[in-house]
Amino acid sequence: MCGIIGYIGHQQAIPFLLDGLRRLEYRGYDSSGVAVKNGDISVHKKTGKVADLEASLPTKVEGTCGIAHTRWATHGGVTDENAHPHCSADGKIALVHNGIIENARSLRNYLEKEGIKLRSETDSEVLVHMIDREISTGAKPLTAVRRTLKRARGTWGICVVFESHEKIICARNGSPLVIGLGSGENWVASDTLPLQALTQQVIRLEDGDLAEVSVDGIKTSRFDGRTTDSEVTSLDGEWGEAELGDYPHFMLKEIHEQPEALRQCLTGRLDLKNGNARLGGLGLTAKQLQKIPHVRLLGCGTALHASQVGRLVIEQLARVPTVAHVSSEFRHNNPVIETDAIHFAVSQSGETADTLAAVKEIQLKGGEVRGVINVVGSTIARQCGRGCYIHSGPEQSVASTKAFSNMVAALSLFAIQIGRARSLSREKGKHLVKSLQKVPQLVEEYLANQGPIDEVVDLVKDAKSVLFLGRGISAPVAREGALKLMEIAYIPCLAYPAGEMKHGPIALLEEGSPVVVVAPNDSLKEKTVSSIQECRARGAKIILIHEEGDSIAEEADISIPVPATDPMFTPMLTVLPLQLIAYKAALALGCDVDRPRNLAKSVTVE
Ligand code: M6R
Repeated sequence: MCGIIGYIGHQQAIPFLLDGLRRLEYRGYDSSGVAVKNGDISVHKKTGKVADLEASLPTKVEGTCGIAHTRWATHGGVTDENAHPHCSADGKIALVHNGIIENARSLRNYLEKEGIKLRSETDSEVLVHMIDREISTGAKPLTAVRRTLKRARGTWGICVVFESHEKIICARNGSPLVIGLGSGENWVASDTLPLQALTQQVIRLEDGDLAEVSVDGIKTSRFDGRTTDSEVTSLDGEWGEAELGDYPHFMLKEIHEQPEALRQCLTGRLDLKNGNARLGGLGLTAKQLQKIPHVRLLGCGTALHASQVGRLVIEQLARVPTVAHVSSEFRHNNPVIETDAIHFAVSQSGETADTLAAVKEIQLKGGEVRGVINVVGSTIARQCGRGCYIHSGPEQSVASTKAFSNMVAALSLFAIQIGRARSLSREKGKHLVKSLQKVPQLVEEYLANQGPIDEVVDLVKDAKSVLFLGRGISAPVAREGALKLMEIAYIPCLAYPAGEMKHGPIALLEEGSPVVVVAPNDSLKEKTVSSIQECRARGAKIILIHEEGDSIAEEADISIPVPATDPMFTPMLTVLPLQLIAYKAALALGCDVDRPRNLAKSVTVE
């Protein structure tokens, strides 16, 4: 949530800042701003997209040091004043902030009593005035920032520039900051996406770190003043292109990247000979896997749905009790933690605050958590220490697509691995591994022949609501379809396990109501047919996602076949038409597909 980019060097800062903001826009996009230092500091802020800021800039904004921010509003409405950077009263200090200052109210009262007039409603602005007060007592920039943060409570990733100092001061606590290292120039950003085209060498700040970034070097220190040697790591080795290429939207690009993303996730992890899977990063031996009392998965949104699929696959293949939890609820319910159970935190961004809080709760109670994460080096990945990366490549559309498939694939690998350590036979393991290996090819085949998605869009785009149904492993897929359509096309959607439909949601059905049913050829299919008939009897129109060649197609008003696979792996196929329905419905309704209203890609507030 919210994006930060900073530059200091020998080139003009503004092209780096604007390009960085464009690449970070997926993190928040209700307003943006830049502060560039050229003798004095010039600040420009604008509500709307980064393109609106760019259009509003004077023709020349010169300076070789600057900071910029793209905002997702938390405190205070979407206004030019509330956009970052925020400045000291004399305009000699400018600051950008990600995170939340929890005691902003009392700091604001203090500042106002001291006669300082704040210009915005944000929590962030208090920081720049506090820093200014420290500077006026003679403190150096780093000391002023450190003293200010000692009085603040909450989370921050901040960058501060000073008119009379050639440096950017940064600090991290709960909101990531990465420093990109160049030659005679350096960058700071809230994630690695804007840095990838600029440098491969980065320093990832830890919580409690501060850094002085200047043209010729980086000095890092801790909150208590101790200096530290920060580890320089390389960005090499991650696949995927952060550019849009020939696609009109990131969502469509990412849907079409699923075959390659799945190959990246599965490569080197399938043991065809022994019918097994290898997730070495989990650090679990077969002996340990045999003794595990239960598995718990934690996630939000799409990651939760992938966890719900994973829960069923793990329980089916390994016969070990498995639960998927909503991360945002988890720690508030004082959960009982068994220290020998396995916990997984599932997250694309690795920054989701609710999931991070759940991880900390488990760790506090003596449990271990392993990450199932996409973004390498992200906060949750590092907090867990161990786990497996899902290798989806960069996902920039707010609507998560390829991460869902890869989370399901990674959890399926784990299900086979723990299954084989327990009661799953080698023969069955071999069949599963072979089937899983074929999934990327099947996804490719479906994407080349998508079925009548446009017909579905005509049916759902003006509907009052759309009901999504599925049973067993298809129930979370139905939820995922509903989430996608709701978040990018703003159509009210309801998702239910098909059998529950008759216990309430059936009341919504009337002549022509669209009902999307996910019914692969598994042991629950016959039961789902009964639910379809109950819907049809009330005049509903059935959009049926089913396997190719299955006679269930006759039950449909609109039939969308997907290639057949093992019942455990159908979610990676049945989810595809649902992603395309959401994408095309959003387009038909003129919605901003990649940047849906009110949302942001990574949700770093609880
Ligand atoms: O980065 P995470 O996977 O932890 O994100 C979790 C959810 O915020 C995310 O899946 C969200 O629901 C998406 N917008 C769904 O498309």
